[in-house]
Amino acid sequence: MWKRHEKFERHSLWLVIGILIVVSIGGLVEISPLFYLESTIEKVKGVRPYTPLEQAGRDIYIREGCYVCHSQMVRPLRDEVERYGHYSLAAESMYDHPFQWGSKRTGPDLARVGEKYSDSWHVDHLTNPRSVVPESNMPPYAFLAKKELDYRAIEAKLTALRKVGVPYSDAQLQNAKLDLEAQVDPFAGASSDLRKRYGDKVAQRDFDGNPEKLSEMDALIAYLQVLGTMVDFKTYKAESPENLR
Ligand code: HEC
Repeated sequence: MWKRHEKFERHSLWLVIGILIVVSIGGLVEISPLFYLESTIEKVKGVRPYTPLEQAGRDIYIREGCYVCHSQMVRPLRDEVERYGHYSLAAESMYDHPFQWGSKRTGPDLARVGEKYSDSWHVDHLTNPRSVVPESNMPPYAFLAKKELDYRAIEAKLTALRKVGVPYSDAQLQNAKLDLEAQVDPFAGASSDLRKRYGDKVAQRDFDGNPEKLSEMDALIAYLQVLGTMVDFKTYKAESPENLR
């Protein structure tokens, strides 16, 4: 036994190969069960796929690199929970591709920023952060209000998301454009099927304060306002089967 060990100790290549084999066995044992366990992601009541407008806003969030300064995960530590609210559940980002958890916090965590501020606060803040938070060093994104939202590819985007597991129905895909337009039209409420397809809690209004235009600002604010609001934490109790769908 010890004699054979010499082989590893005297030849660094054998040692490296030996280390790789041992480490990969450890890795396999730890990681592979996660792909098969049903309970890895527990479904929680209220979590739904993003509406087409929110998804378009999410794409702008990623395009503009907001994640460079903002994380989207409240960790289960007391200071975080007191500052931001209930710690993030795995299920809350189950339809996020790619997820935005992150670890860089030049600005605050945004996992629960939805409904924290009014739409017009967001318009002011994104247009010029210093106008509402004088000491802010966040860059301005005023151009988003001027840029018309390009959503020609929205159905294809949702279809791609369905391929990686987001459960969009056929009706949701076929009506993606209509649903996107209906969400910013405050008068479409009763006549549109957006809420039938995505639930009664969907915020349906003109987000950027300019009803003439369907801007990138509309989409981004629709996305920010839904973050962390899908699960009702007044009724949510960890490990209670009532929360599960
Ligand atoms: C260079 C870093 C940086 C980038 C990039 C950045 N932010 Fe910020 N953000 C900050 C800082 C710092 C604050 C805290 C001061 C303030 O409120 O402006 C902040 C605050 C915020 C807030 C208020 C959060 C709260 O709970 O008060 C929101 C919302 C926000 N940012 C959204 C965005 C979005 C959307 C983008 C991308 C379009 C973005 N940020 C890009 C640094 C950044």
